[in-house]
Amino acid sequence: MSIGRYVLDAIYERRSVRAYERRQPSITLVRKLLKAAVHAPTAMHREPWGFAVIQDRDVLKRYSDRAKAMLRATPSQAVGWGSSALLRGDPPAMLKDPAFNIFYDAGTLVVICRRESSPFADADCWLAAQTLMLAATATGLGTCCIGFAVPVLNTREAKRELGIPREGAAVAPIILGYPRAPALGVPRKPAHVLSWIGREAAKRATRA
Ligand SMILES: Cc1cc2nc3c(=O)[nH]c(=O)nc-3n(C[C@H](O)[C@H](O)[C@H](O)COP(=O)(O)O)c2cc1C
Repeated sequence: MSIGRYVLDAIYERRSVRAYERRQPSITLVRKLLKAAVHAPTAMHREPWGFAVIQDRDVLKRYSDRAKAMLRATPSQAVGWGSSALLRGDPPAMLKDPAFNIFYDAGTLVVICRRESSPFADADCWLAAQTLMLAATATGLGTCCIGFAVPVLNTREAKRELGIPREGAAVAPIILGYPRAPALGVPRKPAHVLSWIGREAAKRATRA
């Protein structure tokens, strides 16, 4: 099988996993994923990322509870999501459920952070996040990106606890673990081609 086939398998098999076994990925395995993640493309070769790993369920529960409280308390005002996005509107009902853990009781969280405030640092971190998620899929692990966690991870206390520099930010929180069951596929619309300049035959295509 060609390497291209393996990569495509991982792309099509990756799904957000929201139910995990109790057993934790080993430290060696997490290190292997971090090693893969830093092979993502990086603007100006700055490699601005840093990784905060939490493998303590009590700490994750504490962050989950604080995240829910923060998101509930600021329903209509802007909440900072790293440096690039805003959350507005009423909080979803699940944030009011005391039993709901925003990390789905996964035992491992990798927070991909930027260590600086350069123009493409967030983009680099997201590329590292996708590389890590595909590598995790290839090793049999499930992942899910947890946007709900971004505001709490960017509080001053959390940044201090996680070793994120003042000029940096938590960008992409990714939970990891062994899936309790195969995740259901979420369908995608075909790629919407807005334009295709050149190559006469493809010119009128609206779908890939
Ligand atoms: C930036 C970002 C933030 C996300 N935040 C959450 C989240 O807080 N909780 C969650 O359950 N899923 C979250 N997701 C996962 C999406 O819901 C999921 O990727 C989408 O529904 C497509 O499903 P798939 O990943 O299985 O293909 C997030 C995904 C992205 C890219």
